[in-house]
Amino acid sequence: MEKLRDFMQRRAPGRSNLSTKRKESDELEILSGLSNGRLCGAPFCAVIRNSDTHSSDYNQLRDIPRPGHADYTAGVKYRGYQDIAGGGHFSGRLTAPLCVAGGIVKQILAAERIYIGAHIEQIAGIHDVRFDPVNVNNDSFEQILLNSIPVIDQDAGAKMEASIHAASDSCDSVGGVIECAIIGAPVGLGDPMFEGMENRISSAIFAIPAIKGIEFGNGFECTKLYGSENNDSFHTDGNRIFTITNNHGGILGGITSGMPIIFRVAVKPTPSIYKKQQSVSLSKMENTELSIKGRHDPCIVPRAVPCVEAVAALAVYDALFDMKKYS
Ligand SMILES: Cc1cc2nc3c(=O)[nH]c(=O)nc-3n(C[C@H](O)[C@H](O)[C@H](O)COP(=O)(O)O)c2cc1C
Repeated sequence: MEKLRDFMQRRAPGRSNLSTKRKESDELEILSGLSNGRLCGAPFCAVIRNSDTHSSDYNQLRDIPRPGHADYTAGVKYRGYQDIAGGGHFSGRLTAPLCVAGGIVKQILAAERIYIGAHIEQIAGIHDVRFDPVNVNNDSFEQILLNSIPVIDQDAGAKMEASIHAASDSCDSVGGVIECAIIGAPVGLGDPMFEGMENRISSAIFAIPAIKGIEFGNGFECTKLYGSENNDSFHTDGNRIFTITNNHGGILGGITSGMPIIFRVAVKPTPSIYKKQQSVSLSKMENTELSIKGRHDPCIVPRAVPCVEAVAALAVYDALFDMKKYS
């Protein structure tokens, strides 16, 4: 439970001056599935209560949708009956239960020596160093957690923090990229076509709101290389087979190769910004200006880092479970 609580705290709002002013303890109220601090085999069910809400801040959004948010699409789909308070079903708050599930599964995977870590690779054009795609290890993950924001290079982190403050001061927001590594996954997870490891991870990743892209290994960069440069040659030390480079990001044909699985996700700038924006009054069918209220993150990226780890854990665990089931 302590490990799970620590993991949840990495996502919780109001923990740093970079995040929304909304303060939530994100304490878990466990209803079933746990006995004497251990999973007992019954379905695990827990509640995370919202304690710091200002629901009225959202009333106007049913009529005047926020650009970049889901108010318009949800309004059309649910004919205006959608829960608008706090963003409802489209709130970043929904990543709290994802982190509960992922935080538990990360511990199950760690017992199998499969470790997952992530860091901010870029915010507002400021880059952190990337994971070493061949030698990334659990120590690198632990080092990242010692910094005030999850980065490898603290200087880059300080510049990122300054860029978030600058965006916030000008009533705006910034986005960025999160890099994730999964180490220790055995060869053979994932299946061809629709259940490939890329498919499984991507499908889980897009459960996190505000994620707009994903690339594996060297990703879009591979398009600029010759095959001879991009292919990772196989080697053996007599015991195991590995690759010297890892452009393929640990997945070949949708199946894990035993090399670290590396992927990066694009996170858009927070849609709710305090700058005046153009929108439409749906009741009047007129163009209008929108000034939003409420408390929002000027940058989603730092809080999304544990969410990425959580859903990656769920995707890997499912694949591991499938492999054990069929082998
Ligand atoms: C941890 C986290 C926190 C978020 N906080 C906010 C927020 O404060 N304000 C906001 O407008 N969007 C926030 N979002 C993003 C919106 O939920 C998201 O942009 C919206 O639902 C539209 O979905 P889409 O961006 O995936 O298309 C957050 C997302 C995450 C993952």
